[in-house]
Amino acid sequence: MLEASRRWRRDGLGIGLVPTMGALHAGHLSLVDDARRHNDVVIASIFVNPIQFGPNEDFARYPRDLESDADLLRRAGIDAIYRPSVEVMYPPGSSTRVHVSGVADPLEGAARPGHFEGVATVVNKLFAAVEPDRAYFGQKDAQQVAVVKRMTRDLDSPVEICVCPTVREADGLALSSRNAYLSPDERAAAVCLSSAMRLAAEAYASGERRPAELRKVLWDRLQAEALASVDYAEVVDPETFRSPGSLAVLAVSIGKGAKKTRLIDNHDLTRPFPG
Ligand code: PAJ
Repeated sequence: MLEASRRWRRDGLGIGLVPTMGALHAGHLSLVDDARRHNDVVIASIFVNPIQFGPNEDFARYPRDLESDADLLRRAGIDAIYRPSVEVMYPPGSSTRVHVSGVADPLEGAARPGHFEGVATVVNKLFAAVEPDRAYFGQKDAQQVAVVKRMTRDLDSPVEICVCPTVREADGLALSSRNAYLSPDERAAAVCLSSAMRLAAEAYASGERRPAELRKVLWDRLQAEALASVDYAEVVDPETFRSPGSLAVLAVSIGKGAKKTRLIDNHDLTRPFPG
């Protein structure tokens, strides 16, 4: 356990944890704000977790900007930053992984084998290091939230999982560290994700409930965008991530050729799309 946490615990303070991979933006800072409202002290972790990236994914080029991250966190009023090295997290010989089945299997789980095992393992280790009362996650990564909730229940973790709404740009694009990869043309094309979910929410609001029809609304809008290739676009149950349901979940690659940026987003169709 971290020394700071030990001290805070001894003093009876409520501890909030905001796990991140850095390259912080207003989405991450909204988690910090929420954590500050409900805890005496807040700690953010910054760790680009190698084991949640596949062999052909962007681990090596994932944006890292420690100076700016530390500065943003200080100004957001964070009490401590936990920034373990890869060697501390995964010393030679470490071989244990936390595997959540069921909710971790479809969609992101199917598209990125090993991803949620990496997430569940690191989140478990962050909880062990910090021993927070509450941990904050973004709805932006809805399936990650479901996996982490399942894990804490199944492992009898005392940590309360708190979920914060997705922070978006004015045109609806969800903030993401990976948006930094987009060229201006790709950034313009990326609006197809929010636009597809907005159309599906409108269809739902006007009474459409047929899963295939709602799914078609998503696909039609996404496929109209020349720079987009759809990985999945489904309407699923928010607990199981299987169809049918009312949560629209999307994974779309933006760009052409080798340099593509994979974006994910989701929206509860029972609610109007914001903005
Ligand atoms: P990262 O992508 O850095 O995201 C950290 C947290 O910020 C996650 O809980 C994510 O859902 C949330 N977040 C990202 N974009 C957001 C947005 N636009 N609005 C609201 N919240 C947003 O997710 C991870 O890191 C990692 O998988 C991690 C949980 C740290 C484990 O390595």
